Amino acid sequence: MRGIIKGTGACLPKRAVDNHELARIMDTNDEWIRERTGIVRRRLISEETTVSMSACAAERALENAGIEPGAIDMILVSTVSSNAVLPSTACAVQERIGAANAVCFDVNAACTGFLAALNTGQAYIHAGMARNILIIGAESLSNLVNWTDRGTAILFGDGAGAVVLTAEEGELPVAVMHSDGAKGGVLTCRSPFEGSRSSPAGGGAGADPSGYEPFIQMNGQEVFKFAVRQVPRCIEELLEKCGRTPEEIDLFVLHQANARIVEAIARRLKQDISRFPMNLMEYGNTSSASIPILLDELNRGGRLRKGMKLVLAGFGAGLTWGAAYLEWEV
Ligand code: ACO
Repeated sequence: MRGIIKGTGACLPKRAVDNHELARIMDTNDEWIRERTGIVRRRLISEETTVSMSACAAERALENAGIEPGAIDMILVSTVSSNAVLPSTACAVQERIGAANAVCFDVNAACTGFLAALNTGQAYIHAGMARNILIIGAESLSNLVNWTDRGTAILFGDGAGAVVLTAEEGELPVAVMHSDGAKGGVLTCRSPFEGSRSSPAGGGAGADPSGYEPFIQMNGQEVFKFAVRQVPRCIEELLEKCGRTPEEIDLFVLHQANARIVEAIARRLKQDISRFPMNLMEYGNTSSASIPILLDELNRGGRLRKGMKLVLAGFGAGLTWGAAYLEWEV
């Protein structure tokens, strides 16, 4: 058994913030941001939350798939920016959409998280442990960004995307995943619960937030080098396992971090950039939400046809990276 994507959905915050607006609150400008990243604007939450966007994307994906919430037996949410530590975003989504029969949990593999959740879903289906799974990537990164750090604040956006994965007879699609914890320091975001600060054993009577910086910190150039080196290798490894060549792939749906990264990956694979769709100009880097949001745009925009060969690839904190092959089947 394997899962096929039966439907897609996305949900973006209403509020769009363009580069000019950011230039009014920090020392940056539209030209610098566009040239270095390709980003023109991003959506940022106001009333929305990671849970509300996840539930909205999930409902749209269910409608697109023609599946009732009660038929969903698993919900996996990839996020690093939950509304709450407990309960998980997946359980909160279950309650909102009325998917009473689902088993729910969250996955954290940063910007590679959607792929990690998709592969987990495929493995459950393959093992016969689930039949209809909602896979969601959702982030409110604006809550983790230091709005005085122009090196990171300009990059990120908020949003959610979802797919419905349904069991069908057939071979498990090929996927590859990698992690390198030794290089984790290049992209971090600390937790207030680090160490024993808040326990009696640590001498504290409660969380001590002094000196704690709850923001994304990044060595941009190291992340850039990592992405343009590892992602093409990983795609080549994937295609070799599938017995396919890059020329046979209709679309490469990559994590939307930066236009220069996507262009460099296309160049290294010696493939035309027209087969690497991008929407990061509109949404910035939405971490684990970027692949399902783009997939939903392609699906609803009529760019996906039955039999098309797709490669999905992600990379991010951890460090983590991975790629998955799939044939569009609806
Ligand atoms: N506006 C104007 N100037 C800026 C800004 C800004 N927003 N940010 C930095 N600068 C300045 C710097 O201070 C520096 O000035 P200096 O030369 O006077 O010291 C100059 O611009 C160059 O800074 P660099 O950091 O060297 O710029 P770089 O060309 O590396 O671009 C960027 C920075 C866009 C972050 C790039 O490194 C990059 O794209 N890295 C990839 C990281 C990424 O996409 N991360 C996303 C999260 S991770 C993920 O999704 C996997």
